[in-house]
Amino acid sequence: MYFAVFLSALALSATTFALDNGLMRTPPMGWLAWERFRCDIDCTDDPKNCISEDLFIDMADRLSEDGWRELGYVYVNIDDCWSSKQRDEKGRLQADPKRFPGGIPKLSRYLHDRGLKLGIYGDMGTLTCGGYPGTPLDKIEIDAQTFADWEVDMFKFDGCYSNETVQEKGYPLMSKALNATGRPIGYSCSWPAYQGGLPPKVNYTQLGEICNLWRNYGDIQDSWGSVVSIVDWFFDNQEVLIPAAGPGRWNDPDMLIIGDFALSMDQSRSQMALWAIMAAPLFMSNDLRTISSGARSILQNKMVISINQDPLGIQGRRILKEKSNIQVFWRPLSDGASALVFFSRRSDMPYRYKTSLKKLNYTTGSYKVYDVFTDKTTTLKDSTDFVVSVNPSGVVMWHVSAPAKLNQRHFDRRGNAMESVFGGDENAIPRVFL
Ligand code: GLA
Repeated sequence: MYFAVFLSALALSATTFALDNGLMRTPPMGWLAWERFRCDIDCTDDPKNCISEDLFIDMADRLSEDGWRELGYVYVNIDDCWSSKQRDEKGRLQADPKRFPGGIPKLSRYLHDRGLKLGIYGDMGTLTCGGYPGTPLDKIEIDAQTFADWEVDMFKFDGCYSNETVQEKGYPLMSKALNATGRPIGYSCSWPAYQGGLPPKVNYTQLGEICNLWRNYGDIQDSWGSVVSIVDWFFDNQEVLIPAAGPGRWNDPDMLIIGDFALSMDQSRSQMALWAIMAAPLFMSNDLRTISSGARSILQNKMVISINQDPLGIQGRRILKEKSNIQVFWRPLSDGASALVFFSRRSDMPYRYKTSLKKLNYTTGSYKVYDVFTDKTTTLKDSTDFVVSVNPSGVVMWHVSAPAKLNQRHFDRRGNAMESVFGGDENAIPRVFL
């Protein structure tokens, strides 16, 4: 018997390799440089608006002083264009000394002292997408060790200038190498985005075993059209993507562009709501020094964050695409609660959408409904028709409690309910995990 257990354990360890870093049980949150600051390395007249130590220190200050960190936004992630064009004499990657005079260790110390975490970027090929030194197969171990020595907390591994065969070896190898350093480092893989994002090319079971999150699709840009194309791709392919996600392993539809130049307030609420439904990583790419109070309050909305961070970690789905161009999204949450998003793809005027919870597949019961962006609470029976007014390219987002149970005291002796009543407080408070 013991021998059999021993044998099967041996077989398991030989055939499977799991990323056992225990990280990112809920989607990671923080700030990422790429979408807003790109590969701007010209620091001559404005050292705080280029990829430099100053920029990351400024963002760390904002995260820790403006209430972001307490809400969960703890990662400060460097993207491409941080390194020198040459490796050092020992073959290690090195930060550009002009733009990062203290090197990466200074930055990671600065962040850790403030309860924040540092993310860094590399690429599986000969060069990064921006033309900086890549991490080909023979450099994987040394680079993983360098990041661990610098006390990096997260690593994004891009796929430019590599091919299918190399990626197939490289992404699992890097996972092993990061694990072998003994430092917990969250691992973000761009691999599926380079394979078209779908099976049979993409093996989501394997990804869940080797990566904590992965980019499935193209890069987000600062436009509403870009947000919509990402949303459509993710929900058109939800049957494939939903089972791939869960605690420790997340689909990544890319950064939040709220607070940048393109989105209206309604569109910003839509991105936030839909990223929460998708259980997506929440990496803002914006300028936290100059962000408007409107954008900030959307990004700091506790209930949306709490829905995004629900501990069950079940990715939500699109449940309806109406002819009226209203779409309805739903995500199951812990304790029998759920989130609903009514999203308007119209371009005329606010649309009054009429439905009931029953029509949205809710079971019989009375529900406490909390409107995430207006803070209004109502009680709704499943069968009661209601109307939500949804702005063009905007959303209405609800947190819906578990249904209240039938109250035992209102049964007669034969067990028949004497009146249609639903019990007291068990579903009264929306659960906020903050
Ligand atoms: C790719 C990635 C982006 C960003 C750039 C950097 O395009 O998908 O997220 O990292 O490379 O060059």
